[in-house]
Amino acid sequence: MYHFVDNPELRKEKRLVWAATRSVLENVGFIRNQNGKKSRSRWDLFLRLLGVFALLLKVTGYYRKGYGNAKTIKVSNLTLKYPDLPAAFHGFRILHLSDLHIDSIPGFATLIRDRIKNLEFDICFLTGDYRRDITGSFRQIMKPFRILSKYIQAPYGTFAVLGNHDTFLMAQHEKESGLELLVNESVEILKDGQKILVTGTDDPFNFYTEQAMMCLETKGYDFKIALVHTTELAKAASENKYNLYLCGHTHGGQICLKEGSPIISHQFEGKQFNQGRWEIGKMIGYTSRGVGVSGMPVRFNCTAEVILITLEAG
Ligand SMILES: [Fe+2]
Repeated sequence: MYHFVDNPELRKEKRLVWAATRSVLENVGFIRNQNGKKSRSRWDLFLRLLGVFALLLKVTGYYRKGYGNAKTIKVSNLTLKYPDLPAAFHGFRILHLSDLHIDSIPGFATLIRDRIKNLEFDICFLTGDYRRDITGSFRQIMKPFRILSKYIQAPYGTFAVLGNHDTFLMAQHEKESGLELLVNESVEILKDGQKILVTGTDDPFNFYTEQAMMCLETKGYDFKIALVHTTELAKAASENKYNLYLCGHTHGGQICLKEGSPIISHQFEGKQFNQGRWEIGKMIGYTSRGVGVSGMPVRFNCTAEVILITLEAG
């Protein structure tokens, strides 16, 4: 059904180098994107503003409404037509989940499970951010994740990448979570004698390394999908002839004045990438509004979503 492009020994070696690198970046707080070292002061300011805003919502009674909104998850259906899609993958269904932040709301795993348990899909992609906080323990997400793991299993595999809220230590639990973590590596999906390529990168928002860019330099496939936490590698993926780019990170803004107009955005590549479908050249991208919430467990004018994509040839 699928196999990794690199042989097991090479994968092991690359994974060790990646883990060592990311552990250093995480432990010394050296966050960086493609432009170099980032300052944490912007994030700290954001958290302080969030505290004030939460207080304001509580005083005005809007907090309860926003909390209820955050627990409402919509299924977004999307059909994408591609002339280059191998015929065997016509009708292939993808479940895309992003930004679960599964410990942000008590009982949230059960809510997600109930939303996806009747969906039919061939493959499942998760594009990062599994816990609420950006540092500290992740043990608290293991139990909720177990509630969910049975329901995200797919015939052609369940693949995940890490986000800026995640830690390299989560990689130790990929098998028990029932998924394959893609860390700057590619996997071939095989169906009826034809294949497509899926590439997953490490988070480029806070833990960018050259390997994330290099792993997109793949050749010899008619159809390629990139899984990245943010839109930051979209231009590179398009230049490397990827057909579909799936990401999240923005939560669609999470708190919007009206649909699509966030008060604060962590999207720096342009507002057209904030949520939903977009295109760069021939590549189609989709930025998920996310399943979960971070910072504050509320949503306004920005419904949480799980995305069901059907690929069509022609
Ligand atoms: Fe997130």
